[in-house]
Amino acid sequence: MSTQASSALVTIRDLGVTLGGKQILQHLTTQIPRGKVTALIGLNGSGKTTLLRAILGEVPYTGRVTFHCGHDHRPGHPERIGYVPQRLLFDTNLPLTVVELVALGMASRPLFLGVGKNMRQRITQLLSRVHAEHLLDSPVAGLSGGELQRVLLALALEPLPELLLLDEPAAGIDFRHQGEFYALITRLNQEHGITVLLVSHDLSVVSNSAHYVLCLRNGQILCEGPPREILSGERIAEIFGEDKAVYAHEAHHL
Ligand SMILES: Nc1ncnc2c1ncn2[C@@H]1O[C@H](COP(=O)(O)OP(=O)(O)O)[C@@H](O)[C@H]1O
Ligand SMILES: [Mg+2]
Repeated sequence: MSTQASSALVTIRDLGVTLGGKQILQHLTTQIPRGKVTALIGLNGSGKTTLLRAILGEVPYTGRVTFHCGHDHRPGHPERIGYVPQRLLFDTNLPLTVVELVALGMASRPLFLGVGKNMRQRITQLLSRVHAEHLLDSPVAGLSGGELQRVLLALALEPLPELLLLDEPAAGIDFRHQGEFYALITRLNQEHGITVLLVSHDLSVVSNSAHYVLCLRNGQILCEGPPREILSGERIAEIFGEDKAVYAHEAHHL
C-alpha cells in the first residue's frame, strides 16, 4: 500500500535474531501501520513471539527497529508499548485478588502496605476500560481465562500505550467469549487510536478485526497485505502448508 510508508508507527529493517546459536529471524523488513490492527500469522515456530520480543527490545537483534512515535526518543525515554505475553510468567494460583495483582503490576511497592483508597479508585477505572471493574476483589485463582486476559490487558493499558502487542490473546478464552475480547480490542483501537499488533491463529478473527496481515515463515516475511488478499485460498495453503486443515475450520466464513 503506497500510503503505508508515511504512516508507519514502527519500521523494521533487515531484522535478524539468533538465540541459542539458532537463527530465528532473518532479513525481516516490514512496517507496522500506525493506528491500525495488524495480525501476525504463521505456523508454530515461525518466529512470531520472537518478533514481538525484538520489537520490545527483550532479545538482542541485528538490523533496525525504528519507532515513529510523537514523543521523546532519547535513551531513558522508553517507547510506550503494552504487552500481553503468550505465556504467563507468574503462577495464577497466587493467593491474590485482582486489585492486589494490578497494584503489584503498577507500583513496585510491597503489598503488605495494603491498597489505599486512591489506588483502589484508579484500579477500578483501569479495570473499567476492559469491563472488568466488577472483578476488583475477586481472587485471581478463580478467574476464567477470559477474565484473566482482560485483567492483563488492563495492566498493559496503563499507561495508555501507542503500540499494543498481544501474543495469542484469546488462547485461554472459551469460544463464546472470544468475540467479546476482540470487540474490546477493536474499540481500544478506534477510541484511543492505539496501534495493535496481534498474533492469532484464528483466521476468522484476522479477517474480521485486522486491517493488515503479516505472515511469517521460517523467520521471514512470506507475505503481507490486507486480509482479503492474504486470506485467499492459495495464500493460506502457502502459509500453513500441510497444517491448513488445522486452521481451515476457524476460517469457515471467510
Ligand atoms: N531462547 C531461545 N533459544 C533458542 N531457540 C529459541 C528461543 N526462543 C525461541 N526459540 C526457537 O525459535 C523458533 C521460533 O519461536 P517463536 O518465536 O516462539 O515462534 P512462534 O511464536 O511463531 O511459535 C522456535 O523454533 C523456537 O524453538
Ligand atoms: Mg509464539
